[in-house]
Amino acid sequence: MFESPLEDVPQRALTGDLPDEPQVARLLREAHARYAGLDEGTVADYIPALAEADSALFGLALVEADGTTHLAGDTAAPFTIQSISKAFVLALVLDAIGHEAVHRVVGVNNTGLPFNSVIALELNQGSPMNPMVNAGAIATTALLPGGWLAVHEGLSRFAGRSLELDERVLRSESETNHRNQGIADLLTSYGRLAGRPEEMVEVYTRQCSLRVTAEDLAVMSATLADGGLNPVTGEQVVTAEACRDTLAVLAACGMYELSGEWQFEIGLPAKSGVSGGIVAIAPGKGALGTFSPLLDRAGNSVRGQRACAHLSRSLGLNLFASAPRGKAHRDG
Ligand code: DON
Repeated sequence: MFESPLEDVPQRALTGDLPDEPQVARLLREAHARYAGLDEGTVADYIPALAEADSALFGLALVEADGTTHLAGDTAAPFTIQSISKAFVLALVLDAIGHEAVHRVVGVNNTGLPFNSVIALELNQGSPMNPMVNAGAIATTALLPGGWLAVHEGLSRFAGRSLELDERVLRSESETNHRNQGIADLLTSYGRLAGRPEEMVEVYTRQCSLRVTAEDLAVMSATLADGGLNPVTGEQVVTAEACRDTLAVLAACGMYELSGEWQFEIGLPAKSGVSGGIVAIAPGKGALGTFSPLLDRAGNSVRGQRACAHLSRSLGLNLFASAPRGKAHRDG
C-alpha cells in the first residue's frame, strides 16, 4: 500500500497549528506534482458507470479550520461520493440519536474484512459491526429520522451547497447492487435493520450517488475538524460530540481492513470511496479532500493515499507524533 518511502520529505514537528498559508499552499502543490504522473491502480468497474471515469484526474484540496482553502489540480471535477457519505451520515445519526444508541445498534469495531463482506455478519451473530462497512452503513442510514430528505439536507449542509444526485450512477448501481440487497435482507433476518430492506438500500444507494468535488470533500470534512461548525458557511451542522465520535470510528474503521496500516503511515481519521475520493481529518486544524479514480486492490485511491501520506508528514498532521517536551525546552 505505501511502498514509496518518504525519507526525503522533511518531517515537521507537531505544533498544534498548520504552517503559514503560503507554506501550506506550496506543500499542497508539491504533493500534487509529485504524484500526478503515478498511474498505478485501476478504475472501479463493479458499478458499471464508474468504469467510465477519467483516470487522469487528480485533485487535492485542503480547508483549514478557519475556512482558508488551498487547491491543487482537478479540485472542481465532479464524482460520486460513494462510501465517503458513510462518515457524514454517521455524524448526522450520532447528532440525532446519540453515542450510546450507535454503539449498541451498529457497533464501532473493525471487521478486518472487506467493505462488502457478508461473512462478517454471520461471524458476528448479525452485528453490522461498524458504520463504515456496507452492512453497518445501511443499518446506520436506517437510523436517521427523516430518511432520504434528511440525508440529502444533512450532507448538503456539510458541503455548504445543495448536492445533486448523479442519476446515471444511481441507476447503474441500483441495477447491480444485489450484494447490498442481500446484506440488507440478512440484517433484517437478524432483526438488525430499522426499516424495510429494499427502502433502506435505496436511501443508501442514493447517498452514495451524490455528486461532489475534492473541494466539497475538504469543506465537508473540515466541518468534522472544526467541532461541527462548517468553517466556510459558519453553520453549526452537528455537535462537537458527534464529530469526536465520528472521527474515532473513522480512525478505527475508515480504511476498512487496512485501517491499521493507514494509521501506522498517516495517523489521521480518514475515509475512502470507490469513485476515487479520500478525506483525511486533522482535528482542530483542517481536512484534506483528494480525488483520483485509480484504486489499489482494497478500493482506495493510489494517488490520494500517497498525497495524504506526504502531506501528513510535511504539514505535521500525524495525531500520534510528538517531540520530547524536555528536549524542546532544553533546545528552545
Ligand atoms: O455500496 C457500495 O458498494 C458503493 N456504493 C460504495 C462502496 C465504497 O465506496 C467502498 N469504498 N472504498
